[in-house]
Amino acid sequence: MARVPLIAGNWKMNLDHLEATYFVQKLAWLLRDAHFDYKHCEIVLFPAFTSLRSVQVLVEADNLRIRYGAQSVSVTSQGAFTGDVSADMLSQLRCSYVIVGHSERRKYHPEDDANIVDQVRAVLAAGMQPILCVGESFEERRQGIELEFAVGQVHDVTRDLNEAEAAALIIAYEPVWAIGTGMVATPQSAQDAARAIRAHMRQAFNDTVANTVRILYGGSVSSQNAAQLIQEADVDGFLVGGASLEVEEFSKIARITQ
Ligand code: G3P
Repeated sequence: MARVPLIAGNWKMNLDHLEATYFVQKLAWLLRDAHFDYKHCEIVLFPAFTSLRSVQVLVEADNLRIRYGAQSVSVTSQGAFTGDVSADMLSQLRCSYVIVGHSERRKYHPEDDANIVDQVRAVLAAGMQPILCVGESFEERRQGIELEFAVGQVHDVTRDLNEAEAAALIIAYEPVWAIGTGMVATPQSAQDAARAIRAHMRQAFNDTVANTVRILYGGSVSSQNAAQLIQEADVDGFLVGGASLEVEEFSKIARITQ
């Protein structure tokens, strides 16, 4: 079964809600003018929480095919959790996806595989799809254990999921040493990681889950390297950071991928 490529832009803590809505509108115009076929490539943007409602209003008013989601989510559904945002609140804004376990969340917040599982379950229960981020640091790569490390992160988060939950996952392999550094992984190393993750999903679940799960690459993706990376059999798209903040660049990456 062919997996539909997915190009996601993780804006992190950038672009206010006015810049966000201008970006979405301009991106829609650029892709329309390029006769972009959304059936053959899914576009998802991850604005800051504060921009989600503005993006929703624009997407729905103009019936845009661009999807959107949140960069994180609370593990709880309601209550005295200052600063948290629940999965139901995100689902109410018709978010399609939620990024969970991003290395910057693991680094700056008390997030680890244990509570990332709870985030995954909260996202699924609210009818959205999690994008689970995994990837080694420079030290693990120096030791030559990058594949075991990334697969281990996938295992720790997915081991108690059922097959339907696992099939709903998207997994983003984002080597930490490649994030924001300009040091993009080689197509071969991205493929090696994606293949190892897919093999784990096949062994841990079944062929259907392994063949369904989309595996994205993230880490210094740009219009200069996207074409080579997307050629790899197990790379199904990208989770783009810095290059997603510039609409022409991001639309180029999308057009390369479809
Ligand atoms: O989530 C994607 C992000 O971490 C990658 O960042 O700037 O290296 O594309 P960047």
